[in-house]
Formats: sequence, C-alpha cells, structure tokens
Amino acid sequence: MELKITKLTKDFRKTLAVDQVSYAFQSGVYGLLGINGAGKTTLMRMLTTLLNPTSGTITWDGEDVFQMDKDYRRLLGYLPQDFGAYPDFTVQDYLMYIATLKGLKPAAAKSRVAEMLHLTSMAQFKGKKMKALSGGMKRRAGIAQAVLNDPKILILDEPTAGLDPSERIRFRNLISELAADRIVLLSTHIVSDVESVASQIILMKAGQFVATGTTEELIASCPDKGWLCNVPKAEVYAYHQKYRVANVKTLSDHAQLRILSKESPMPGAIPEETSLEDVFLSYFGERSGGEDGNGMV
Ligand SMILES: Nc1ncnc2c1ncn2[C@@H]1O[C@H](COP(=O)(O)OP(=O)(O)O)[C@@H](O)[C@H]1O
Ligand SMILES: [Mg+2]
Repeated sequence: MELKITKLTKDFRKTLAVDQVSYAFQSGVYGLLGINGAGKTTLMRMLTTLLNPTSGTITWDGEDVFQMDKDYRRLLGYLPQDFGAYPDFTVQDYLMYIATLKGLKPAAAKSRVAEMLHLTSMAQFKGKKMKALSGGMKRRAGIAQAVLNDPKILILDEPTAGLDPSERIRFRNLISELAADRIVLLSTHIVSDVESVASQIILMKAGQFVATGTTEELIASCPDKGWLCNVPKAEVYAYHQKYRVANVKTLSDHAQLRILSKESPMPGAIPEETSLEDVFLSYFGERSGGEDGNGMV
C-alpha cells in the first residue's frame, strides 16, 4: 500500500499552490499541518483526481492514478473542506444516496449505512435533516459518507473546523478507529488536532513540505528551543520585536515570557521542553489556530 507523489506541482498562474512536492504515504495517519494558503486543499484535490497537476505524478502501488481512473477512485474516501451539501436530505437519506453513487447495491448500502451511523455515533440523528445538524454532527456525517466504501485512502480536509472541544476529542477517537490498514491524510491548522492522532506530521508552507516526521522527530530537528525569561514589563515589547514569543504571562512586578530561540536570549533564561506547538511557531512565525479555529490559543 503506497501512495506516492513525485515533484507534484500546481501552478494557478498567479499562485504556485503546490511546488514540486515528493512524498510516499504508507498505511497510517498523516497530519498535514499549515496555515491558510499553504496549499493543503490544492494538494488534497489533486490526490482525489478532482484537480489536474501542472506537473509531477501521483502513483498507487506504482501505477499512475489518473490512468487507473475509476479503479483508483474506488479506493478513495474524501471529506471536502467546504462540505455542506444536501441540506434537505436526512442523514440516512444522504448516506444512502452517497452509497448508491459509490456503487453499493441496495442491501449492502443499507447495512453499511447502519454500520457507519453507529461508528460515527450518528444513529440517533439519522432522521435529522442535514441543515439542522450542529457543526460536529455535520462533520461526522461527512466522515461517515467518506468511509462508506471502506476506502484504502481517506482524505479529510479540515475535518475539525468548527468543532467544540468535546467534539474534537470524539473526532480524534474516531480517526484512531479508522486508521487500521489504510492511509488517512487529514489537514488542519491546529497543532493539537494532529499531535495525538497522527503518526506522521507534515508541515506545509508556501506549497512545500518544509518538515516531516513524528512529533518527536520534528521536535528534535527544530532549531529553536523554548526559554522561560523573566523580564521587566516595560521590556516586553522589545522582546516581541527581537524574538518569537510563544507565551506571555503578566505577573505583578514583571512579565514571564516563553521565547523561542536557538541560544539563550538572556542571562538566567530557563530552558524548557520544546513542544510541537513551538515547532509550528518556529516554522510559521505564528501560533497554530486555537480550538475554536480563530487563530487564538
Ligand atoms: N482555483 C484556484 N485558482 C487560483 N488560485 C487558487 C485556487 N485554489 C487555491 N488557490 C491559491 O492557492 C494557494 C493555496 O490554497 P489552498 O490549497 O486552498 O491552501 P490551504 O488549503 O492550505 O489553505 C492560495 O494562495 C490560494 O489562494
Ligand atoms: Mg484548505
């Protein structure tokens, strides 16, 4: 089981959205992490064959996926980023409809839909209309449709967008259940969404994979370290100008900064353990999106 991309490129004339990316995916969960505009959606749309690459190749076990055509798409499950289709369908009807599109026979579709409703904890909401679902329920229905055909390759574009914290936890558990014997690629701009669930993390920036590996590997290869620094309140701004500041805690007589830097930024700075969030900040110069996805943590 290998999905391989080689020098994959998408040039939208004004924007080089994906820039000569090469990588091989094997069974496991991959977290594609990057800020908005990094090229995540464009890469995923090429992987689903919805978008033609400008250049480069995508192969499945050595065979070109565009040549494989239907045989490749049968292996795919996809949750698009702006998923909001079929507002007047009930969840059950929506899933039956997608199952039919995917070529499942009626009896098989019925039992598979029931199975997916159960897996995604949506069985009790199967009679609800899609437009009446909460953000979390809608994503779960979206994941249910993506896995109906038991895909070998599951591509989820920002599946946690708009989820509240408890829905996020439920989502992580669901991904772990789905991870066996398939390639799961999920994109996000939120570090905590992939940290615990992805075996491999890919940092994507300006159309390129700038760093890949396990959380531990990314942390080990991060040039910056975290330093705890006590500074006078009046100097906080100056430190912001000079360093990447991961956190500021204002105390009564001074401020405590967590600074990312190769070297100790000041005498008396206390070295701290580096986190994946630090790695993100180090590469992107900004923190990852918060739990509510609005860029705050
Ligand atoms: N259809 C398109 N036409 C022109 N530019 C596009 C198109 N789709 C995406 N882009 C541009 O490509 C870049 C990457 O976008 P995208 O793949 O959506 O990133 P992400 O999903 O990481 O936010 C952005 O600069 C975006 O504006
Ligand atoms: Mg996107």
